[in-house]
Amino acid sequence: MQYREPVTDLIRRRRSWRSYSDEAVSADQMGQISSFIESLDPPPFGTRLRFSLVEAHLPEKKHMPGTYGVVKGARNILVGALKPSPMDFEDFGYSFEAIILFCTQLGLGTCWMGGTFNRSLFGRKIDLGPDEVIPAVSPVGKPLAARSVLDSLFALSAGSKDRKAFSERFFINSLLSPLNEEQAGRYREALEMVRLAPSATNRQPWRVVLKDGSHHFFLARTTGYSRIFSGVDLQRVDMGIAMFHFEAAARQLNLPGKWQKLDESHGIFCPRGVEYRASWVV
Ligand SMILES: Cc1cc2nc3c(=O)[nH]c(=O)nc-3n(C[C@H](O)[C@H](O)[C@H](O)COP(=O)(O)O)c2cc1C
Repeated sequence: MQYREPVTDLIRRRRSWRSYSDEAVSADQMGQISSFIESLDPPPFGTRLRFSLVEAHLPEKKHMPGTYGVVKGARNILVGALKPSPMDFEDFGYSFEAIILFCTQLGLGTCWMGGTFNRSLFGRKIDLGPDEVIPAVSPVGKPLAARSVLDSLFALSAGSKDRKAFSERFFINSLLSPLNEEQAGRYREALEMVRLAPSATNRQPWRVVLKDGSHHFFLARTTGYSRIFSGVDLQRVDMGIAMFHFEAAARQLNLPGKWQKLDESHGIFCPRGVEYRASWVV
């Protein structure tokens, strides 16, 4: 799995698009996306995933069916499914974001959607098995220069352009001491890519602690969020996206390391509502 451009440029360029031109993705681009999907390495924790780029029928009013009027104009949608396993939602976020960034490289617009889509409709489109779950989908198409009113409202209400400061998401030795950009050293850019990651309603629930040369990823849950979509843990999907951004930037910078789930008592105190998820260990 490789990009032609520096992945950090793709991460900086990607934004959520909800209004598209009526054109379908070309056969050539469809082929490139399918080959990219086939070339994906297994995700860090080995979850069984599958992805399909399916066609959507565009009715006269041009709202994509199954997206509750949120997506306008697109004729293709990327649907992903997982088979449950201990790190399934992180693995899903990690691999789906790899595909989203490939679409970004092709000049196509995308939008992660974990809430505003009809799970049973898209389940039928990909023959979802009884033991499979669809955590999210994304329209894929040519973005319209002018966003629809609904698109602008969504982006505005989620505060999509805003990202928390480095010192509010990244820490050193404990979750109580903020990390500054100088202390981040060679990993500054990899952490910056975490900061720019998309997340459901832009909650940015990740916290990263640098300790003994390793980066430990924690999830600070938004209260009540996991109960909204039963069976789908969107904030763990957010975590997987952040992990992909971190690793892709680290690899671009030739920084070695791999993902591991360590003993939860790794010496970092976890306040209530914060969970340890995984570490990038050198
Ligand atoms: C896991 C996940 C689920 C999301 N679900 C939705 C959704 O259901 N509907 C929607 O319009 N946007 C959804 N978004 C898009 C976010 O609102 C958006 O990524 C965030 O506001 C940051 O904006 P940006 O993607 O333009 O950087 C989702 C994003 C993620 C990562």
